[in-house]
Amino acid sequence: MKKINPIKVGILGIGRAGYEMHIPELKRYAKYFEVAGCCDIDAKRRKLAKEATGCAVYGQYEDMLKNPDIELISIVSRSPDHLKHTRQALKAGKIVFLEKPVAMNYGEAKKLKALHDRYPGKLFLRHNRRLEPTFQHVREIMASGLLGKIHLVKLHRHFFQRRKDWQTILDCGGGLLNNWGPHLVDHAIRMVDAPIKEIWSDLQLVSSLGDAEDHIKLLLKGANGRVVDLELSYGSAILMPEYVIYGDRGALTADAKEIKLKYVEPGYKFKVGKADRGTPPFGAVSYNPEPIPWVEKTIPVNPSSGLAMNDIYKCLYQAVRENVPFPITIEEGMEIVRVSEHIRKKTAFEYPTADQIYQFPPEKKSGK
Ligand SMILES: NC(=O)c1ccc[n+]([C@@H]2O[C@H](COP(=O)([O-])OP(=O)(O)OC[C@H]3O[C@@H](n4cnc5c(N)ncnc54)[C@H](O)[C@@H]3O)[C@@H](O)[C@H]2O)c1
Repeated sequence: MKKINPIKVGILGIGRAGYEMHIPELKRYAKYFEVAGCCDIDAKRRKLAKEATGCAVYGQYEDMLKNPDIELISIVSRSPDHLKHTRQALKAGKIVFLEKPVAMNYGEAKKLKALHDRYPGKLFLRHNRRLEPTFQHVREIMASGLLGKIHLVKLHRHFFQRRKDWQTILDCGGGLLNNWGPHLVDHAIRMVDAPIKEIWSDLQLVSSLGDAEDHIKLLLKGANGRVVDLELSYGSAILMPEYVIYGDRGALTADAKEIKLKYVEPGYKFKVGKADRGTPPFGAVSYNPEPIPWVEKTIPVNPSSGLAMNDIYKCLYQAVRENVPFPITIEEGMEIVRVSEHIRKKTAFEYPTADQIYQFPPEKKSGK
C-alpha cells in the first residue's frame, strides 16, 4: 500500500464554487488533502470557511501565499483574475489547481502555457466536467464501435434561467462561454476526436439579465468528417437529451442517469450491399431492402473508471504525489480557449479588452 502524504491546500475565493464545491470535495478526500487556509475579501465568507474547515483564514491573498505550510492553491476567484492569481501562486512556490475558464482569451492562454513550462508539474486545470459519468460512458460506447462509424454528435445543455449575477455581465468576465462554455466546448472538442477543420457558431442573449451571451450554438467538423453540434443555453425552456449520437450501425441518447441504445449486433452483416440503377417498385420497399434486426436497450450510466465529477481532487492527488498523468493537459486547456476565442470573434458581442475588465473588488476612486 502506498503511503499517503496529504497535501495542504489553500482555497482562494469562498464563493459558490469555493464553498459549495471545493470544500465538500476536499472533505470527501480528507485522507489526501487538508484545507490549511481559505482566503476571501468578504469577512462573512471567511467566518463560514473557518466554521466549515477549522483552517486559518485570510483577507489578503498575499498573506495566504506566505504560509509555508500551504503546498497547493485552489484558485476559485472570479474568472478575469485567474491568470494573475496563478502567476502569484506559482511565483510563491505553490502548486496551482486553476478553475475554469483558465484564461479569458488566447493571449492569456499562451501566458498560462509559458507559466506551465516555467514551473513544470505545478499547474493543473480544473475542467472537472471531463469526469461527468455520462460523458465518460458515452465516449466508451463510441470507442467500442457498437454504433459503427459516428457521423453526428449532438450535445445539448439546456436550461431556462434569468440569471443576474456577474457571470452575466461582459466586463466582469461573464457570459455563458466563460461560464459553462469551457466544460461543454471541451466535451465538443473531445467528441470530434480529430483535428478541427471547420467551426461555425452563433451567440445570443435570450433570458439572462446582463449584457453577455446566454445561448451558444456551435458546430465543429473534424478531419474525420464527424460533425459535433452543441447547444448550450440558458434560453431553452424545453430540454433536449444531453447526448444524441448517430453512427452507421446505431444511435444513442443519454442523460445524467440513463443511456438508450439502438444498434445492430456487432458482427451482423447487412445482406444487401449495393444500390440498384433500375426503376424501383411502388411503395417504400426499396428504402429498407431488408428488415434491420435492431437491438434496443436502456442501461444505467456507469463508466468503467468509476469516477464522478467530484473525484477530480483524487486525480489531482495522484498527479501530484504519484506522477499519474492528470486527465486534462495544458494543450487541451489551450485548445478550449482557442475555440472559444474563435466563437467570440464571430459575434456582435463586444468583449472588453483585458484592461477594461472589471477587477474585483472595484477600486475606490479617490475624491469620491
Ligand atoms: N468547475 C466548476 O464546475 C465551476 C462551478 C462554478 C464556478 N466555477 C468558477 O469558479 C470561479 C468562481 O465562481 P463563483 O461562482 O464561486 O463566484 P462567486 O462570486 O460566487 O465567488 C467568488 C468569491 O471570490 C471572492 N474573491 C474575489 N476576488 C478575491 C480576491 N482577490 N481575494 C480573495 N477573495 C476574492 C469573492 O468575495 C467571492 O466570495 C469562476 O471563475 C467560475 O467560472 C467553476
